[in-house]
Amino acid sequence: MNRIAVALIALTTLSVGVAARAQDGRSVWEGVYTSAQAERGAAAYAQACAMCHGAQLAGTGEAKALAGPEFLSNWNGLTMGDLFERTRTTMPLDKPGSLSREAYADALAYILKFNSFPTGERELASRPEMLAGIRIDAFKPTAAQSATDAVADAADAHADHGPNGAPNPYVADAGFFKLPPGRTMGSTSGVAVDSRGHVWVADRCGANSCTGSLLNPIMEFDREGRFVKAFGAGMFNFPHGFFIDARDHVWLTDNRVANGKGAQVFEFDRNGKLLRALGKAGVSSEGPDTFFEPNGVAVARDGTIFVADGHSAGKGAHRIVKLDAQGRFLKQWGARGSGPDQLEVPHGLALDDQGRIYVADRWNDRVQVFDSEGKLLESWKQFGRPSGVFAGSDGQLYVADSESREPPGYGYHPGWKRGVRIGDAKTGKVTAFIPDTAPDPDKQSTSGPEGIWVDAAGRIYGAQVFQKSVLRFTKARKAP
Ligand code: HEC
Repeated sequence: MNRIAVALIALTTLSVGVAARAQDGRSVWEGVYTSAQAERGAAAYAQACAMCHGAQLAGTGEAKALAGPEFLSNWNGLTMGDLFERTRTTMPLDKPGSLSREAYADALAYILKFNSFPTGERELASRPEMLAGIRIDAFKPTAAQSATDAVADAADAHADHGPNGAPNPYVADAGFFKLPPGRTMGSTSGVAVDSRGHVWVADRCGANSCTGSLLNPIMEFDREGRFVKAFGAGMFNFPHGFFIDARDHVWLTDNRVANGKGAQVFEFDRNGKLLRALGKAGVSSEGPDTFFEPNGVAVARDGTIFVADGHSAGKGAHRIVKLDAQGRFLKQWGARGSGPDQLEVPHGLALDDQGRIYVADRWNDRVQVFDSEGKLLESWKQFGRPSGVFAGSDGQLYVADSESREPPGYGYHPGWKRGVRIGDAKTGKVTAFIPDTAPDPDKQSTSGPEGIWVDAAGRIYGAQVFQKSVLRFTKARKAP
């Protein structure tokens, strides 16, 4: 019942979609092409399409992406017949209609595969009238969705309030952090609190990048928000994921490569002494001892290190890397896509006391929960489109949604508002929502907190990229 309601919200907001939907047919989720066909399609695509749409279907210049949320939202609710005719009559741009009908069908099979739609027994036909019965559903239809019980539980769990209806028991304190004279806070996705209650922030050097800056991005503040010290000038391009471990060591990821720097994970002691740099400086690559675009880092009590890697939808790594306390590669999991075990832009991660790992699987609009070996335990849609996650010692999960947008395009997630959702880390039931206050959120790709941390007293810290500030949220006192 609840799941149907959720699906209806998603569908009714798509005006084109509803009218044009195939009435009685199948959906692309039901295995409408074969893997052999997709393989032939890969060859056809490489020959006739890749030079414009890119080897990873991510698009180049005017040629749009043929994979990922933007492509899917363009075509959501239309049919494979529509896509076939559009492609056959207009593509390749310089020679429309120059491929055989079968080659177009094969190329579309490859595109379906790349978008993580399942394979089946029968090939995709090359006649539009036969394809007209196959709906393109960007979202997995709900009946097929309950592949795991987790998904079913998830849909039930936010029924109480809907996506944005949970109460907000918090008030924001924007003036908590007192920076040194002349220094302003830049864009930031990194905030963390140490065992003494000192609050640390990694900003992007007063701007939205540290490349070429002389400022120190890692800043320490005392319990009252007074500036203590800063370090890290000249070391990073794009400070991104931030973590303080059980020994009060400060961890930072730099997820952009420039000037021989970046794509590394750094560990400092609290005096600012560099202890380790994992990965290879300036080398963006998906290897056992390199990172592609390290987004987030979290360190378990025993020193085991987890890194969420991959910031670019549609290309490169999309994985969780597990390293031992010495920094040696143990294993990795995840692959690009939207299937149950796949990830697309794992933008942040958090650990709880039970060894569960919460991953902000951003482009899939879900929080994936794994055990420490990478086995999928839960898949939660009710926390929104997550950029940051934090597992509190109070058993609550804190999730920052900085991207949900109404209009099709980047961040398309109709019906969902940006802000911080808080819920039970065991059951996934959302009980509170702190809305972002940016006046016109659909105007920019991000607003509100991306990085998130919660201190021992339950105060929430949200690091904001667009608003260039860190907010502190305190539980409002109950009315007398
Ligand atoms: C010479 C460059 C070029 C080649 C080659 C090319 N395309 Fe395109 N394609 C474009 C451009 C530019 C657009 C956007 C303009 C438009 O919509 O017509 C586009 C748009 C599309 C769209 C619409 C996307 C959307 O979301 O609306 C599809 C589908 C597509 N191409 C498929 C293909 C396929 C399949 C091939 C190979 C058989 C191919 N294209 C080859 C340049 C190219």
